[in-house]
Formats: sequence, structure tokens, C-alpha cells
Amino acid sequence: MRPTGNTVLITGGTSGIGRALAEVFHRRCNQVIIAGRRQCLLDEITAAHPGMLGMRLDVDDSWEVDAFAARIRAQFPQLNVLVNNAGISRTEDLAADTVDFFTALSILQTNIVGVLQLTAALLPTLKQQAHSTIITTSSGLAFVPRANLPTYCASKAFLHSWLQSLRFQLRETPVEVLELIPPYVQTELGGPSQATDPTALPLADYIAEVMQILDESDLSHGEILVNRVKALRWAENSDDYVQKFMALNHQTAITSSRSSIVGEPRRNPAH
Ligand SMILES: NC(=O)c1ccc[n+]([C@@H]2O[C@H](COP(=O)([O-])OP(=O)(O)OC[C@H]3O[C@@H](n4cnc5c(N)ncnc54)[C@H](OP(=O)(O)O)[C@@H]3O)[C@@H](O)[C@H]2O)c1
Repeated sequence: MRPTGNTVLITGGTSGIGRALAEVFHRRCNQVIIAGRRQCLLDEITAAHPGMLGMRLDVDDSWEVDAFAARIRAQFPQLNVLVNNAGISRTEDLAADTVDFFTALSILQTNIVGVLQLTAALLPTLKQQAHSTIITTSSGLAFVPRANLPTYCASKAFLHSWLQSLRFQLRETPVEVLELIPPYVQTELGGPSQATDPTALPLADYIAEVMQILDESDLSHGEILVNRVKALRWAENSDDYVQKFMALNHQTAITSSRSSIVGEPRRNPAH
């Protein structure tokens, strides 16, 4: 991806990683369009960054995604970078007497269906460019799940797999397919306290490392991996995967009384 002169659409551009990427791409003289549901934030961010554009989008609404994509195709036929970044994370207690299936469904809708639908709708435009890039945000938790976020982690594992197939199928087109794999970063994804959690990577540090990778690294393998996420990314290749899974989940067990869900060796949920 060239550093400047792109037309970049970023979903989930109203906060966190998407907003920070939008601001840095804008500073580098790219035409940036941010999308999200919170109109007040779209207005505030675009007002602070003259030239940046905001378009309302709820990726859970398939009619809206279709109409949005049609507007993008008509107004920005030069679109050459799509950043599929919108996502939600919700805890789920699968051992509860009643499991809330709709939580799982809403995660799948936002994190998977929204990505697939928007990508399909914009691929014809991306294929028309000399060079274009699709960046999709997965997670380090695609590789080692946190058991209290079962559908979230599975949705990101889905994206990891799907992106490999997409990359392969598009290998003879001008479309580069990149997977952005964040570690735990200071945003409000998991609630307001995450933004100041000292165990999370500061957002500015994360974005700086991502931009350095985009600028300097050979990305033919397709993954944007900062140092902090490498242990998770490669955990399955190591002999101590089970210990890594246990360590991650003992830190974040749903409740102490239920910690056996993630700590019971006879029921190894990782395999
Ligand atoms: N922060 C981390 O630790 C971390 C780690 C790994 C992966 N990630 C991934 O990074 C991405 C960005 O998350 P973040 O950490 O930056 O959290 P965030 O600040 O909560 O950002 C989430 C973004 O997604 C948008 N969004 C959510 N539901 C949407 C919907 N139905 N339609 C359109 N937009 C929607 C939100 O915008 P509106 O509310 O305005 O719609 C918001 O801009 C997510 O895919 C997340 O899974 C984050």
C-alpha cells in the first residue's frame, strides 16, 4: 500500500483503532472516509480534520450496507483502500442456565456478516484500480481464545481463515489483502476501563508500530503483526499451547467459581 494519495474507507472510524488510523492516513494526505453509527462523532472528527468525510453506516443492517456501498461506488469510483475495522466484543456465559443466543448473533452479524457484505459490494471498485488494499481487523484472540469471549474470538478466527482464502483468490488481481491483528489495545472495545488499562498497549504506540510495518515491511504474508501480539499469533505452533491458553484464561476467568471451565485439563477446550 502506498503511503499517500489513496482513497481510504474505514468502518469503525468513529473511535479507537479505526479513528486513530483515519487520523494518521489523513495526515499523510490520503482522502479518508470514516463510517460508523454515531453521527455526533462522525461530525466531530470530520470537523477537526478538514477534508476528511464521514458517512453513517450500521453494518448490522444489510439494506443500509447495500445503499452505503452504492453511494461509495458512485461518489468515490477511485476508492482503493477498504479498512474493515468495525467490530464489537461481548462477554458470554455459556454455562449459565439460559444462554443469550442473541448476543452471539449480534457479534456474528457485526464482525463477520458486515465484513463479508461490504467487501463483496466494494470489490468490483477495488479491482478496477491499479493497486488496492483491503485491511481487515481480526485479533490476537483469533489464535488463543479468551473463554469469556467465545463468539468474539471465534468471529476473529473466522476472519483469519476467510482472509487467507480471499487473498488466494485475489492473488492475480491488483487487490492486496491484509489482516490487521491487534493485541490488547487501549480503546473502549471492552468498556471504558480498557482505555486506561495499563496492561493494554497504548493506542498511539499501536498505531505508530502499525504504520511502521505498513511503510517498511514485506507484507507478502498478509499479516500486520506488532511485537506485542506475536506470542498469541504463534502460540499454536509452540509445544506449550495448552499452558498459554490456561494462563490467558486464568487471568480472565468469568468468575472464580467457574474458573474450572477454563482450567479443567480433562476438557481441553482449545482442541
Ligand atoms: N482494542 C483491542 O484490544 C482490540 C484487540 C483486537 C482486535 N480489536 C478490533 O479492533 C476493531 C476496532 O475496535 P476498537 O478497539 O477500536 O474498539 P472501539 O473503539 O469500540 O471501535 C469499534 C468501532 O466499531 C464501530 N461499530 C461497532 N458496531 C458497528 C455497527 N453495527 N455498524 C457500524 N460500525 C460499528 C464503532 O462505531 P459506532 O459505534 O459509531 O458505530 C466503533 O467505531 C474491532 O474490530 C475489534 O474487534 C481490538
